Amino acid sequence: MSRKTVHIENFGCQMNKLDAQLVASAFEEAGFGLSQSVKDADVVLINTCSVRQNAEQRVISHLGHLKHIKESRPDIIVGVIGCMAQRLGEELFEHKAVDIVCGPAQIPKIVELATQAIKEKTKQLAVTEKIRKENQSEELEDFESAYGADGRGNSANAFVRVMRGCNNFCTYCIVPYVRGPEVSRPPKAIVEQVKHLACGGVKQVTLLGQTVNSYKYIAGEKTYCLADLFEMLSEIDGIEWLKFVTSYPSQEFFVPILKAMADLPKVCKYLHMPPQSGSDRILKAMNRKYTSAEYLDLLVKAREIVPDIAIAGDFIVGFPGETEDDFQCSISLLKKAEYKNSFIFKYSPRPDTAAEKRLADDVLPEVKKKRNIGLLAEQEKNSDKFSQKFFGKEVRVLVDGPSKKAKISSNEMGQLQLVGRTEQDCIVIFEGLRSLTGSFAKVKITRTSPLTLFGELI
Ligand code: 5AD
Ligand code: SF4
Repeated sequence: MSRKTVHIENFGCQMNKLDAQLVASAFEEAGFGLSQSVKDADVVLINTCSVRQNAEQRVISHLGHLKHIKESRPDIIVGVIGCMAQRLGEELFEHKAVDIVCGPAQIPKIVELATQAIKEKTKQLAVTEKIRKENQSEELEDFESAYGADGRGNSANAFVRVMRGCNNFCTYCIVPYVRGPEVSRPPKAIVEQVKHLACGGVKQVTLLGQTVNSYKYIAGEKTYCLADLFEMLSEIDGIEWLKFVTSYPSQEFFVPILKAMADLPKVCKYLHMPPQSGSDRILKAMNRKYTSAEYLDLLVKAREIVPDIAIAGDFIVGFPGETEDDFQCSISLLKKAEYKNSFIFKYSPRPDTAAEKRLADDVLPEVKKKRNIGLLAEQEKNSDKFSQKFFGKEVRVLVDGPSKKAKISSNEMGQLQLVGRTEQDCIVIFEGLRSLTGSFAKVKITRTSPLTLFGELI
């Protein structure tokens, strides 16, 4: 049998990007080649997201496209992995293109499933009824911690999951159903993994968790929290920046995390802590466990301990029953919070969540759209103000590589338009050599816009 190749397409969040990387490494280890396009792949995997309906719709239309490809290449194996696979299970086989359905807790089986599908030409299903149990399995931990163990980072940037799942059951959210309950990974495994990544040239590690700030691991007498992880990971040579997303607004561990941010130079001064709404009535209906005043108090505390902290938020507009007054509370909170940036989403009812079962999706689409635009416009003012603070300043940037427009601006000195990010997660664009990719650069900021800083290499 000639060497088979796999192509992985990713829909969704950073968690999903990490899963795609884990899956890619597993296939490579099993002797598969990785392919950049569907065209020359034997196996095509779609890593899916269920958080909003439009994310699922994009996957469904993509499956339509793959069905066409399969008509001329019937041997190609198509797999759906990730949250949608767990949510829909066998139902996905109704799409003609689909051969494999594999949920997030079953991901260690993916290579085996693909190999079976190629050999036997049969449909392969691996989702779990018992997601509560399965996402605590040793198999999953082994699969996860193997990533980076070959001492070969794919770039200067790596994601490391420190916890799986979520226990919060916000009424709109599907995550606890498809990713299971919170499980924190052992600190030792995380430290080992980051050491291996550092050996492979990784300089920045982003620690991932749905509620990463509630990381908690009990070993004998000692309870490890995220601040302990920061301390341990700060010791690792080669790692220069530690970031972490996403934080749930909660008092628990908050001060130690901020203190670590203030005291440990490697911990980046960036906090992504979604409020979701500024209305206490809506927060309650969302089963968020804080009021808008408590949330803003946390931000005051954060800025007291880490004066130059950059804070980002998420909002949902058009949650069931959201009135104009409720929406104005979100506007008011957004203004007071002075976010660096915010992600704003229109409420999308997700099957079997408490909100979908009990509350009518009664805010009209055009009202959701208007509120979305309203919050974005307010945020743009904040973002602009935040960016302007960097005008004329020097910033340290970890270079991601050529920007999307790089070719157009390439000049005779071989310089290209490069893009990188600062410690506070600001995007910076400047000209430089491609070889700077993956290294740190000093850039003087000469122009700013709400979401991007522009500068010159020093
Ligand atoms: N509808 C709209 N947005 C949602 N989010 C989560 N669930 C939903 C939903 N049902 C948003 C939240 C979360 C982000 C990842 O996605 O703002 O922070
Ligand atoms: Fe979803 Fe809430 Fe958990 Fe975030 S904290 S993943 S919004 S249930």
